[in-house]
Amino acid sequence: MSLPRFQLPFGAAEFLRHYWQQQPLVMQQAASGLLTPSKEELFALAQRDDVESRIITGANDGPWSLQQGPFQAEDFTELPSKEWTLLVQSVDYYLSNISLLLDSFSFLPSWRHEDIMISYATQGGSVGPHYDRYDVFLIQAHGQRRWHLGPVCDKSSARQDVEDIDLLKDMPIKSTHLMQPGDVLYLPPGVAHWGIAEDDECITWSVGFRAPRLTDLLARLTDEVLADNSPSLYTDQGRSLPTNNGYFGNAEAASLNQQALSLLNKEAAVRAYCELLTEPRQYPEQTTLQTDIIHHEHPDAEFVRQGGVRMLMSDEGLWVNGFFYELPPSLHEFGTFLAQQRLYAKSELDTFRSEHSNVQAMLDQWVEQGYLAPIQRG
Ligand code: SIN
Ligand code: CO
Repeated sequence: MSLPRFQLPFGAAEFLRHYWQQQPLVMQQAASGLLTPSKEELFALAQRDDVESRIITGANDGPWSLQQGPFQAEDFTELPSKEWTLLVQSVDYYLSNISLLLDSFSFLPSWRHEDIMISYATQGGSVGPHYDRYDVFLIQAHGQRRWHLGPVCDKSSARQDVEDIDLLKDMPIKSTHLMQPGDVLYLPPGVAHWGIAEDDECITWSVGFRAPRLTDLLARLTDEVLADNSPSLYTDQGRSLPTNNGYFGNAEAASLNQQALSLLNKEAAVRAYCELLTEPRQYPEQTTLQTDIIHHEHPDAEFVRQGGVRMLMSDEGLWVNGFFYELPPSLHEFGTFLAQQRLYAKSELDTFRSEHSNVQAMLDQWVEQGYLAPIQRG
């Protein structure tokens, strides 16, 4: 058993320049370590109350149906023998070893990651022709899946008349790709796609990216600014004589705007956005970690970040899951070290410990809070 890994087939700068948010890319044998979770582990996750899961049944022209989890063990035995897909959302939050795949995506800012959804499909199973509004890397983990790719779509594209599932009508096929275990397909937002399982036990991982709504950013920024309990007032010393004192035009609006928007300063923006972007998508009741596998591959690892724990380092300190931990400048390197990866080597931690007496106390606190877990050494 090994940890999941992904490697771009060429330089990350080239990927960002030519593909990211622009065009699909098929990468053969770009991922490894995909043997877990198994079908049984996915079925078990889909039975938990704190896990988001769904089953989509249908093929070709339908009919399509959607069932939302959590499921009972019997639900799986009552399904037809083919043409259905189980989708389990945010598996990286529940299985910390799976979240270590995210360290392979360090060519993108960590706050752009959303989660890893994993699907299990029987032969002919698919979620139908659709497009997603987010970037996604679709990793074939087990079995084969045939992907049909179509044009870029948007909310004006014709839809099928199916309840609860957003399916495209008459998706024109621009290319088809048969994915083997280890093959990866990158899709930018909007590209129509339809992935059909070629065999039973077709398992596909979707490494999904988040793009915050601009209105959510603005709302958070405004909340941050409103938290100031002695707000400044509008001033207009030295204003010119009004031509009409009952008129409010563009110039007046621009003057008020300028003063109001001056509150939306960079410091407030960093605080507001770091809080928003480190808030987890899910709060797992239980997280599973297989430290023996981690220890085997990384004998020097002392701690692992628990799946789904989000960290960002700003100029003032470390943000973890929406909470702020102020760090003095001497500990900024330590905060950056924690935020930029999910596995922490003992040798590097020892250097921080030898230079700063409070590093161990912080690590202990974050283990206590469930952000970090020690690696048991075999
Ligand atoms: C799947 O894994 O079956 C669907 C993933 C997707 O199309 O986004
Ligand atoms: Co999709």
